Amino acid sequence: MHTLSVAMALHIRPCRQDDLPAVHRLSAENTSFDATPTLADTEGLYHRNPEYFYVASDESGEVVGFITGYERKGIPEEVLRTWKATRVGYVDLMAVDPAHRRKGIGTRLLNTLLEHFRRERIDLVLLDVPVEQMAAVKLYEKIGFSVRAFHMKKYLRNGAGAGSGI
Ligand SMILES: CC(C)(COP(=O)(O)OP(=O)(O)OC[C@H]1O[C@@H](n2cnc3c(N)ncnc32)[C@H](O)[C@@H]1OP(=O)(O)O)[C@@H](O)C(=O)NCCC(=O)NCCS
Repeated sequence: MHTLSVAMALHIRPCRQDDLPAVHRLSAENTSFDATPTLADTEGLYHRNPEYFYVASDESGEVVGFITGYERKGIPEEVLRTWKATRVGYVDLMAVDPAHRRKGIGTRLLNTLLEHFRRERIDLVLLDVPVEQMAAVKLYEKIGFSVRAFHMKKYLRNGAGAGSGI
């Protein structure tokens, strides 16, 4: 008996309105939020910046990953000079279905968004990532992102849970 191994073709393409329920499921199950996002939140994200919203879909059309970002506008000139940048992009959210991870999909999604930013003459890209999302941190480092700040916390109360949460 032969085992047939077929590499599933994955396609990175702009997100469409009808992808949003699947994107929302991926987002709610896999990305870190301070509050659980609703479908309306995901739709709001999409409608604010549809051009910087991409999905990864398999041969059957199923959405197995997504990424979204936007251009950060209104940054004062002095700050841009300090950052040695003219236009700044932001990677907002990204997730890949757990069953499809470590196949390079996250890398392809991120590179697609970065390439789009580059075409728009965005020359600096920022992102924030929760410290517990080590897979994402490793991916970003591999693509060339470096740490520019630590986002720290300390609770001013006693008792259980003082070290957990946000
Ligand atoms: C982060 C995430 C999108 C990565 O997607 P992915 O498709 O698995 O990523 P890739 O296959 O392109 O991985 C690229 C590289 O990142 C690093 N990496 C990815 N997952 C990793 C893990 N679990 N542990 C260590 N390194 C990891 C590796 O260097 C990997 O290269 P390699 O497989 O050749 O070693 C996915 O893990 C995910 O959805 N995580 C939950 C949501 C999240 O954290 N989103 C980002 C913050 S909103």
